[in-house]
Amino acid sequence: MTFDRSLKIAPSILSADFANFGAEIRAIEDQGADWVHVDVMDGHFVPNLTFGPPAVKAFRPHVKTVMDVHLMISPVDAYIDAYADAGADILTAHVEAGPHIHRTLQAIRGAGMKAGVALNPGTPAEAVAHVLDIADLVCVMTVNPGFGGQSFIDMTAKVRALREMIGDREVHIEIDGGVDPTTAPLVRAAGADVLVAGSAVFRGGSVDARHVYGRNMAAIREAC
Ligand code: DX5
Ligand code: ZN
Repeated sequence: MTFDRSLKIAPSILSADFANFGAEIRAIEDQGADWVHVDVMDGHFVPNLTFGPPAVKAFRPHVKTVMDVHLMISPVDAYIDAYADAGADILTAHVEAGPHIHRTLQAIRGAGMKAGVALNPGTPAEAVAHVLDIADLVCVMTVNPGFGGQSFIDMTAKVRALREMIGDREVHIEIDGGVDPTTAPLVRAAGADVLVAGSAVFRGGSVDARHVYGRNMAAIREAC
């Protein structure tokens, strides 16, 4: 993975057909997805449950781009090796998931992955000020995590503050939640480069009507 700040769309397969992940991943990549975003939830840190390491490992051979794994779990550290073994390229942990985000990011990098740190809407940008040198990505949640299809919470001021704090460091700013052609330009202008989108990408399409995924992604890109 080489670093740049070009616009990247990362469809969240939380909005895909759960009985058909392999074909769904191939369909969104065919249609121009830059990364594939995988939402791991534990029914404890967030009030919803999705999938764990064996499922993520099964997705791996279908992902030709970048597998971006977002952990909405607590605790995190005991599972880092399992996600490395599952083939995650980027592993993102929440700053709110435990008292030792610095140790967690070191362990993620130590296991050979890029390290991401996510911020819930109620958490200030300053929470990551002292880990920017050991992070590869900051994920700004623009919904309270747990479910797809929620409405966008405006975090553009936080994105701007992070962009400033990051300076020349090679750290991506990712936006997750409620991204669509209306909200995407706001966060892009504030300094984000990776836009996660679930419902806005998968809406109206299917593996057999994958051009709809392509059209939905194009609408987000054009709006930016
Ligand atoms: C929310 C997840 C998101 C979610 C985004 O807890 O982390 O990745 O799937 O879904 P949309 O784009 O539908 O808000
Ligand atoms: Zn996510």
